[in-house]
Amino acid sequence: MSETAKIILGEKEYELPVITGSGGEKAIDITKLRDLTGHITMDIGYKNTGVTTSAITFLDGELGILRHRGYAIEDLTEKASFLEVAYLLLHGDLPNKAQFHEFDEDVREHTLVNEGLEGMFKAFPTGSHPMGQLSSMITALSLFYPKSLNPNRPEDAVNRTVLRLLAKMPTICAMIYKKRNGHPIIYPKNNLDYVTNYLNMTFGQVSMDHYHPDPVVVDAMNKLLILHADHEQNCSTSTIRMVGSSQANLYSSIGAGINALWGQLHGGANQQVLEMLEVIRQDGGDVKKWIIKAKDKNDNFRLMGFGHRVYKNFDPRAKIIKKTCDDVLNKLGVYDPVLEIAKKLEEAALTDPYFVERKLYPNVDFYSGIIYRAMGFPTDFFTVLFALGRLPGWISQWQEMRKQKQPIARPRQIYIGEKPRKFKFMQDRD
Ligand code: CMC
Repeated sequence: MSETAKIILGEKEYELPVITGSGGEKAIDITKLRDLTGHITMDIGYKNTGVTTSAITFLDGELGILRHRGYAIEDLTEKASFLEVAYLLLHGDLPNKAQFHEFDEDVREHTLVNEGLEGMFKAFPTGSHPMGQLSSMITALSLFYPKSLNPNRPEDAVNRTVLRLLAKMPTICAMIYKKRNGHPIIYPKNNLDYVTNYLNMTFGQVSMDHYHPDPVVVDAMNKLLILHADHEQNCSTSTIRMVGSSQANLYSSIGAGINALWGQLHGGANQQVLEMLEVIRQDGGDVKKWIIKAKDKNDNFRLMGFGHRVYKNFDPRAKIIKKTCDDVLNKLGVYDPVLEIAKKLEEAALTDPYFVERKLYPNVDFYSGIIYRAMGFPTDFFTVLFALGRLPGWISQWQEMRKQKQPIARPRQIYIGEKPRKFKFMQDRD
């Protein structure tokens, strides 16, 4: 017999189905709860609410496990390319040679963006944040492809939109970088692979015939993008599923996700971490002082890059990134004093009862910025790189949501405002 849960309200008892996932995790299905009992559930911040079933990513926060379509993140970062992982997320399995070749060719075919898009840079004020530019430009793609406005087109047509977005995202990210520096845009070179092409558009120069990125940088970028590729129902992904559930088009759904990612408690943390480490360095590097500040409830300071809603033991992505960070800086011969500070902060926090009791560990954002900086990216660009990596995950989740025919997402609330009252004309009010 399948498992059920009982809920007792006053004199009455109700039985609710229990759903079990393939990783053994369980949920009480409350879909009919309000119809049966007149009650809703309350879970501020969705700390304990499942919003969907999904076959894309498995995460066990207690054991520090992350798998995409059954494959361990450790294997994927070590053995696959970012585009292979994108295929895996989108199609459910790793591609064979022929499948990868076709996918790669399709992506290469769509890397150019409409010249009109460049006009948007005239409107952006100098120094405006790259994440605001990115979300505007990705949303604007829907205006260049009006047929894409209907997400219920035949699958072939939707897949073309998916390929376009995947192909144009690196081009747009690189355009933002170049415009920020006042440099001419570098067009995509479609003989280059996805990651090298992106690095070429970013760090190459018009005057250069060939830009040869350091293989260490290409490898690290592949790893970093894979490590960000999906993370099940996080804030930006849930935003995309929510926006998409209204049958908004893919570009605008992803634009909404980029905006959600920008926040400092989510992807924006990678920028905040580096800024925090710089402040600590300039303040003399006394990590104990900053640990005390992070614990002080009257102080707004939080240790950025620490803590996670789901991981309560360690973040497997952070482990890989820490090692990559050491490798990349050593191989590039870069000495960054903030790396020392980051390591001291981590050590101090991991032995401090406040952090131990609350199970606060370094997350994916703690060391990633140090690598990005060593590669030559400015601090306010880090979250754009998170978005570039997360894109295949976002698209896969949007596709899954569509195929599951998810009803429009519309949470309820408990109203705690005024009871009904009589309207008074202004002259009669006290
Ligand atoms: N520094 C100091 N105290 C913290 C921190 C931190 N970074 N994170 C959590 N706490 C404390 C918090 O004050 C609370 O203490 P108490 O129980 O005494 O009230 C307790 O730990 C639980 O925190 P919470 O805010 O209820 O936990 P949450 O699950 O709602 O938030 C989080 C998770 C990631 C937003 C939070 O840990 C945080 O703000 N971290 C810093 C920002 C950050 O690094 N974000 C990137 C997340 S990973 C990348 C991504 O997926 O986007």
